[in-house]
Amino acid sequence: MLSVNESAGAKLATEAPTLEFQEIQATVLRVRPAPYFGTHVLLRIDNAQAGRDFLRRVTPHVDSAAGWWAAANAWLAIGISYAGLEALGLREDSLRSFPEAFRLGMAARAQHLGDEGVNHPKNWDLPFGKGQIHIGVSVFSDSEEKRRRTLNLAREQYDASSGVSVLAMQDFGAQPGDLNPLGYKDGIDQPTIEGSGVESPPGYGRPIKAGEFILGYPGEAGIPLPMPHPDILGRNGTYVGLRKYQSRVGAFNRFLRANANTEEERELLAAKLVGRWRSGAPLTLAPVVDDPTLGADAKRNNNFDYSDDPRGRGAPFGCHMRRMNPRDTQLSRLTDVNLHRVIRRGTTYGPPYDPNAMSEEADEVPRGAYFLFISAKAMATIEFLQQEWINDGNFIGIGDERDPIVGLQEQGATFTIPREPVRRRVHGIETFNVLRGGEYFFMPSLSALRWIGELG
Ligand code: HEM
Repeated sequence: MLSVNESAGAKLATEAPTLEFQEIQATVLRVRPAPYFGTHVLLRIDNAQAGRDFLRRVTPHVDSAAGWWAAANAWLAIGISYAGLEALGLREDSLRSFPEAFRLGMAARAQHLGDEGVNHPKNWDLPFGKGQIHIGVSVFSDSEEKRRRTLNLAREQYDASSGVSVLAMQDFGAQPGDLNPLGYKDGIDQPTIEGSGVESPPGYGRPIKAGEFILGYPGEAGIPLPMPHPDILGRNGTYVGLRKYQSRVGAFNRFLRANANTEEERELLAAKLVGRWRSGAPLTLAPVVDDPTLGADAKRNNNFDYSDDPRGRGAPFGCHMRRMNPRDTQLSRLTDVNLHRVIRRGTTYGPPYDPNAMSEEADEVPRGAYFLFISAKAMATIEFLQQEWINDGNFIGIGDERDPIVGLQEQGATFTIPREPVRRRVHGIETFNVLRGGEYFFMPSLSALRWIGELG
């Protein structure tokens, strides 16, 4: 299996990589296999000693990013929340050196994230929002059999600790055709990281300084971002945000039916909301009809910017993808788009997308995404994205319209599709993906995991 970057035509860089791969957890750089299989396990530590015992036992099984671009089969990743670091007995000065939003946790930052109404933490699924999630263990795999085997490895370690309890387990995996809960191919675009050993394939933008994604390296401003103390704890670590979305498939299908008469029109409308056809083909390259061959071609399906689409006639300004990465779009509120990139690890759970599910019951079927995003400033980035680019439209000159895929919508919400001679304004946009949980995790380096395990 090639990594996305490799399969997209990336070459191994001629310059020597500068990152300490053997220290960085694999998930930071290694992309999801296709198809993928996995499980998230959320743990609570009831006793610091037991928690540290667990870490000491599990760390030898946590994979590093060494050779991350080569074939990958199954691996384990570990994240620790602030409550978890407390429960593991980290010293007060270390605890205080973490950023405030991380210390408070995602639920307590609801106001900064615009997580109100149906998305408010009071409506979240357990165990989210109660400060009890201490450790997240994730298994990623390219086969069901290896997922089970790798999960068993982790289970043997936490089952052996009487002071570590399992709060929740969630299997996830690609749906047929590698689609996400609303039926789209995703996980296509990722930022290329300077020093990671591969060159940026065409269309992926310039490489971003490693310090934006991994602590201890210079960021875009030329200096490393603030790091928790001591050095061994912070260096080569990063932060992971988890947001659990419930996809309201019935509401999404009802919206498409209400606003499009034929299957072709529905598919075009679905593409306009995201900026790509469900096949993955970008509207910028395939503006009128889908091109599934283009969508499946990793060398071509991300090779575009918006210079040929300055008016949004292909990919509307308000579509999910153009909001989340405006590339070279001229913005009304100036900002450097490369400061707001995240590494994405979307993990789809529940039954496959059904284009014919129309009922309200279909909205409640547990399916959606555990959306994981990785960045050395994940908390600040998601707060920026939520406030400026998801739940507002002024940065691209479309007033208060919100992201049609992940925005929290108010009654009467609309979506504007620029076209000649007059734009089309589509009504009936709802909150199609409802937030049902979330948390911030620190993803320590392998040395830091060992260091925490030895505290005491
Ligand atoms: C269940 C919720 C979500 C769904 C169904 C969804 C769907 C998609 C799809 C279909 C794409 C296009 C394929 C690709 O380029 O990989 C995409 C791209 C993207 N999404 Fe999402 N997404 C969801 C949540 C989020 C969230 C919460 C964020 C960030 C806060 C996000 C950020 C992005 C970014 C950065 C891109 C790449 C844009 C680019 O670089 O051109 N997505 N998403």
